[in-house]
Amino acid sequence: MNLAGKHLLLGLTGSIACYKSAELTRLLTQAGATVQVTMTESAAQFITPITMQALSGHPVYISQYDARIDNNMPHIALSRRADAIVIAPASADFIAKLATGLCDDLLSTLAIARDCPLLIVPAMNRQMWQNSATQRNVVQLRCDDIIVLDPDAGSQACGEIGNGRMLEPQAIYEAIIALLHPKKLSGKRILITAGATFEPIDPVRGITNRSSGKMGFALARAAAQAGGRVHLIAGLVELATPWGVSRENIQTAQQMYNSVMATIADIDIFIAVAAVGDWRAAQVSEHKLKKAAGQPLPPLHFVENPDILASVAALPTPPYCVGFAAESSELSINGEAKRRRKNVPLLIGNLGPKTFGKDGNEVVLFDKTGSTPLPLADKQSLARTLVDEIAQRVLGNTLHDPGAMHQLSDC
Ligand code: C5P
Repeated sequence: MNLAGKHLLLGLTGSIACYKSAELTRLLTQAGATVQVTMTESAAQFITPITMQALSGHPVYISQYDARIDNNMPHIALSRRADAIVIAPASADFIAKLATGLCDDLLSTLAIARDCPLLIVPAMNRQMWQNSATQRNVVQLRCDDIIVLDPDAGSQACGEIGNGRMLEPQAIYEAIIALLHPKKLSGKRILITAGATFEPIDPVRGITNRSSGKMGFALARAAAQAGGRVHLIAGLVELATPWGVSRENIQTAQQMYNSVMATIADIDIFIAVAAVGDWRAAQVSEHKLKKAAGQPLPPLHFVENPDILASVAALPTPPYCVGFAAESSELSINGEAKRRRKNVPLLIGNLGPKTFGKDGNEVVLFDKTGSTPLPLADKQSLARTLVDEIAQRVLGNTLHDPGAMHQLSDC
């Protein structure tokens, strides 16, 4: 469980987006966290404390004079128990209060009394978000080491369209995991390729493979949670982009090669997870190839695609390169042979038919010291283990930096 043993204080302020915090509470408790909900009086106009108590399994606190706390100091008692405070939704008014240090209710008082990280998830009308006072306050919060997630764009409850929607519960959940995760790859620039490429034959047909992209996306999520600045170049992948990761979609191996080469100069770690097509049709037909009775089958000629990983590894100053090998047999022989052929320091081997499209994976690591099998695990847990393995190799043992999440600021 991603958040086992973690104590989170979830603060709700007045916004229609309070309904999303009900779902967020479920995600957090299912991941093993203890969730203590605190609401402002305005928040209680949008969702009842009963709902939040039922979902969190703990009484909800609203008043700073709540006598249920033995010494009647809920602002100290509640904030001291928390590994992190998350305020979702955070209204424009609450952000203004935090920026100036005002504390006139329980939530604002415990936020200022905290000794743990504070994450703010804004929710408001687009004009309120764009208002220079709000933007000034957000800059101030970031200067004060408070993490502020940028809101989503889209249709708003008020009927307007723009920036200000609260992030979806899944994205907030991922940001919370990232906040609490050790920052083993802090500031490292990481490029990941993922999923299957598609090589067209004619306008309606093409050659692809059964890679789902799940392993590459899981690695992107784990690397971002470890503090990396992750860019994903994805083939045919029907998965949501992990929170905090930038993404570019391509179709063919040549497009993937071009995108990788355009980005690689700034990259510290390159992880090639994509199942790249080895060949493409020498000639892509402009029109659909027709079958006609008695006619010979259309001749298909192939040319080889560039090997992206090997090309990156052969650069004069390559980033740290990690390859994947999906074999169908004799993994131990083929894995090490492939590592040497591609000239990469780390190759992660698995058996393709056992992993493509599945949620679990069993891999063997090949590096210059030999091979290390890892036990079967779900792809997200495995991705965290792989990120640890990569971080160890890239950085040695000077790793543990559980510092605050990287964020750009104007301070
Ligand atoms: O040669 P093979 O396809 O088995 O190698 C697998 C590894 O090489 C993977 O890391 C894959 O992403 C990468 N690769 C590549 N460009 C290719 C073929 C494979 O980057 N054209």
